[in-house]
Amino acid sequence: MDNTTPRIIIAVDGYSSSGKSTMARALAARLGYRYIDSGAMYRAVTLYALEHGFIAAVGTVDTAALIAALPEIKIDFIPTSSGVQHTLLNGRDVEEEIRDLPVSENVSTIAAIPEIRHALVKMQQAFGKSRGIVMDGRDIGTTVFPEAELKIFVNAPAETRARRRLAEMTAAGLKVTYEEILDNIRHRDHIDETRSESPLRRASDAIDLDNSNMTHQQQDLWLMEQVNQTLEKIKEGGHAQG
Ligand code: DC
Repeated sequence: MDNTTPRIIIAVDGYSSSGKSTMARALAARLGYRYIDSGAMYRAVTLYALEHGFIAAVGTVDTAALIAALPEIKIDFIPTSSGVQHTLLNGRDVEEEIRDLPVSENVSTIAAIPEIRHALVKMQQAFGKSRGIVMDGRDIGTTVFPEAELKIFVNAPAETRARRRLAEMTAAGLKVTYEEILDNIRHRDHIDETRSESPLRRASDAIDLDNSNMTHQQQDLWLMEQVNQTLEKIKEGGHAQG
């Protein structure tokens, strides 16, 4: 891509463990764009809540205390030598902890709190100011960047996603069962779909991707096709944003 190619905003939304993050990260690297994992931001807030005793039991959150603490919560991302960026919570690398079960069990509850969503959506929009960004999540194409030039909605059955997640977690040395993961995924799907604030919803102008039977390579090719078609349309339309 040359210097005249516009830098666009790409929104990748979908269910948990649908492979969105891996796909979005690879796409950003290929395009020389910034990648932002918005789920990691909800996870970082959840970790903060756990560490500060704001979560008494799974799903029981001291919402008022967490909202009051919001100005103290700073989230950022840093590149690492492996090429995978890590999430920082108040300057501390929390990439591993935010993937652990205590965070996974509570994150949907935290992500359903309107004040938390408002604060994180603002931070996410600030990341998009310089354009040239791929962001993945649940409400990127609908709420965070309704103006995104390319929106992808990823889907795959819960069982397929649970099998993928089990392989990832087992490879990372974590002891979890398929049933635990499937339960967690179904529970998160339900909360994501039914919360009143920004529920998981496909944007009407999103392109669907069911990647159940696609290899990473096929998926990457398909994505680049969508990017190239979008860039072509922008060039033809003459409203390129540089
Ligand atoms: O993508 P993930 O599984 O890491 O997301 C963690 C949780 O955060 C999940 O329960 C959905 C929620 N989330 C959200 O509500 N909105 C986003 N934009 C991203 C994630």
